[in-house]
Amino acid sequence: MNRVRSALAAAVLIPALALVAQASEPTTVPSNVKELQKARHDHYHKLGDSFKVIRDQTKGDKPDLAAIKTAAKVVNDASINQEKWFPAGSGPEAGKTQSLPAIWSKPDEFKAAIKAFGEAAPKLQAAANSGDVGAIKAAFGDTGKTCKGCHEKFRAEEH
Ligand code: HEC
Repeated sequence: MNRVRSALAAAVLIPALALVAQASEPTTVPSNVKELQKARHDHYHKLGDSFKVIRDQTKGDKPDLAAIKTAAKVVNDASINQEKWFPAGSGPEAGKTQSLPAIWSKPDEFKAAIKAFGEAAPKLQAAANSGDVGAIKAAFGDTGKTCKGCHEKFRAEEH
């Protein structure tokens, strides 16, 4: 009886956990540092591409609201648990990267930059879901400031 019950509990619980994991961890971070650096670079490029979709669409006369919604989700997902991309030892000492050493030497400032993005991105997603183009533009501007705020201190130019 007990065994049946725990099997049942597991059957219910495991898919629920998988869902939670999917919602908060859209991308898994490789444990090998070189692979992590490459994945981190690709991850931020994808974020940049989605952000551009929102910019381009809101500039046009007929914004594609579905495309904006999808892109806003990518941006919002990227704002969740950003810390995971920056384990200790994954800076320039481990290979070519645009991540600056200040990420690890000024952890409080870096955390504040992460937090600012984490607060702006859900508002952008909410605006995108509402379909209100004025609200999307405003939230896009606010979110863009948080990207820039972090890049100015913690990202090297592409070379
Ligand atoms: C908390 C800091 C932080 C925030 C917030 C942040 N980024 Fe970045 N971004 C970085 C770092 C660090 C890198 C370098 C990553 C690497 O390759 O190691 C990077 C890299 C990038 C790159 C690729 C490098 C390049 O020069 O082409 C793009 C594109 C990018 N970010 C776009 C964005 C956009 C768009 C946002 C906001 C929606 C954003 N980032 C928010 C820290 C941040």
